[in-house]
Amino acid sequence: MKMNNLFVAILSLAMIFSFGACQTEIGPAGPAGPAGPAGPAGSDGQNGAENCVDCHGGNQLITAKMFQWENSVHATGGHYERNSTSCAICHTSQGFLEVAGTGGLATAATINDPLPQNCYTCHQIHNTYTSADWALTTQDPVTFWVGGETRDIGKANLCLNCHQARPRDPALPNPAETGTITLTSSSWGPHHGAQGTLFTGAGAYKTQGSTPYENSLHTTLVENGCITCHMAPVDGGRAAGGHTFRVASEDGSLNTNGCVQCHTDTDALELQVVATQAEIDDLMTQLADKLVAAGIFNASLKLVPGDYTYDQAGAAWNYTFVLEDKSFGVHNAKFTRALLKNSIEALQ
Ligand code: HEC
Ligand code: HEC
Ligand code: HEC
Ligand code: HEC
Ligand code: HEC
Ligand code: HEC
Repeated sequence: MKMNNLFVAILSLAMIFSFGACQTEIGPAGPAGPAGPAGPAGSDGQNGAENCVDCHGGNQLITAKMFQWENSVHATGGHYERNSTSCAICHTSQGFLEVAGTGGLATAATINDPLPQNCYTCHQIHNTYTSADWALTTQDPVTFWVGGETRDIGKANLCLNCHQARPRDPALPNPAETGTITLTSSSWGPHHGAQGTLFTGAGAYKTQGSTPYENSLHTTLVENGCITCHMAPVDGGRAAGGHTFRVASEDGSLNTNGCVQCHTDTDALELQVVATQAEIDDLMTQLADKLVAAGIFNASLKLVPGDYTYDQAGAAWNYTFVLEDKSFGVHNAKFTRALLKNSIEALQ
């Protein structure tokens, strides 16, 4: 080995000397040229680091929200791998940003490296690189896919985009007409998470009945809807409120910070929540019994594919709608009651 290295070194030296001998002589350097014209003035400190520190500075603003967001179902739910074109519009950040505000029902292609709903999904991060980038990615009124009604609940229009009923095949029938409908899928219904449609009294099968369809005052009175209750100030920690998007902590205790502006007595409010949810739960049981008796649901409360009247299919839709809303009446108590009572009547 040593002999080889020595041989290579000697060979290299020999080559340097032989190439050097081939080089031609270089003449002396010429005089320096005249100075060029002055360049245009630079812009005023735009995108300078002084803007970055408004967000990335010592205030730990991002860290605090990040700490809460990490405990939200947006971060932990795990369903962001639903990245095919028709699911990605709600389940992935990139898919949402591709269609946001357009009403588009699908992305152009499957989303690679899918991300869950994160800072970039809801805020215009790194658009101007100033604090203005905390602006929401969309807050335009939303026209629902099911029923076609348009709703405007301020900043919470952002939430309505994803938390709405999905169009199904066959479409939800019109209760003003009579007919039969063939349901081929046991998962026919408004899909999970249609809170925005129920909260604003839309996307339901409004069959005729003795209870009028009215919305709870929550629908119009709660400024910024979802945000007021679900993103209310946090009582320290990250159990509920703020960017956890939870109105109740995982152990079930309600964060009433968003409620007290109207419900000043929190003890009374907690009892009221229990009472409303128990009443809705009871109506749900009555409706489920009727759906099972009519053979529309099986014993485990799953839809049995088959031919149904509009009213039968509509009652099944309404049951699933209220179940998947998960608030058991708190969102829109009056409308929820009317849906369940009138659906029960329709199946008598
Ligand atoms: C409106 C507030 C805001 C401003 C202004 C801002 N950022 Fe950010 N930045 C964020 C947020 C929010 C994130 C995402 C946080 C995370 O994922 O950790 C982020 C993430 C980053 C990251 C991590 C990599 C990435 O893209 O996720 C870098 C690097 C970064 N910013 C650099 C900058 C620089 C440089 C500037 C100034 C030119 C700047 N930021 C201005 C809010 C801001
Ligand atoms: C880009 C679509 C999208 C937007 C915008 C969005 N969400 Fe969600 N949200 C989802 C999805 C999808 C899930 C389920 C996540 C999972 O399981 O992976 C979810 C889950 C949730 C949950 C937890 C549900 C549970 O079962 O515990 C709450 C609460 C929630 N969102 C509230 C909100 C609020 C409030 C807003 C508006 C500030 C909002 N969301 C905006 C798509 C969205
Ligand atoms: C599901 C949507 C959503 C996600 C995800 C989200 N935010 Fe927000 N954020 C909101 C909404 C809605 C508000 C309230 C806006 C308002 O009231 O003006 C808000 C407010 C804020 C504010 C206060 C802004 C201001 O104008 O003072 C900050 C800071 C913030 N978010 C940071 C973050 C960071 C950091 C992340 C990622 C860890 C994040 N957000 C993720 C929806 C979201
Ligand atoms: C309109 C927006 C939207 C679309 C489109 C959408 N989802 Fe969802 N999905 C949601 C929301 C919001 C939730 C969270 C519901 C909740 O926890 O209350 C959810 C929850 C889910 C869950 C979790 C259910 C549970 O009980 O934990 C599954 C599974 C799911 N979606 C599958 C899909 C599939 C598959 C597609 C495409 C065929 C799809 N979703 C399309 C909004 C959507
Ligand atoms: C008046 C206050 C209020 C408003 C406004 C509101 N919610 Fe809720 N929401 C609740 C309460 C209370 C529950 C039930 C919590 C429980 O029993 O655990 C709930 C339950 C939920 C759940 C089930 C998961 C969970 O966190 O318990 C989701 C998802 C949800 N709401 C989303 C929304 C969306 C999206 C909007 C806006 C369209 C909205 N909510 C508007 C108070 C509200
Ligand atoms: C902007 C005012 C406002 C806010 C904020 C508000 N509520 Fe209400 N709530 C009302 C009013 C007014 C009523 C009675 C009239 C109605 O329901 O139409 C009511 C009724 C209720 C009912 C009884 C519904 C029924 O008919 O059985 C419950 C339960 C409830 N609210 C829970 C909550 C919770 C929980 C919060 C906070 C997470 C909250 N509300 C936030 C104004 C508000």
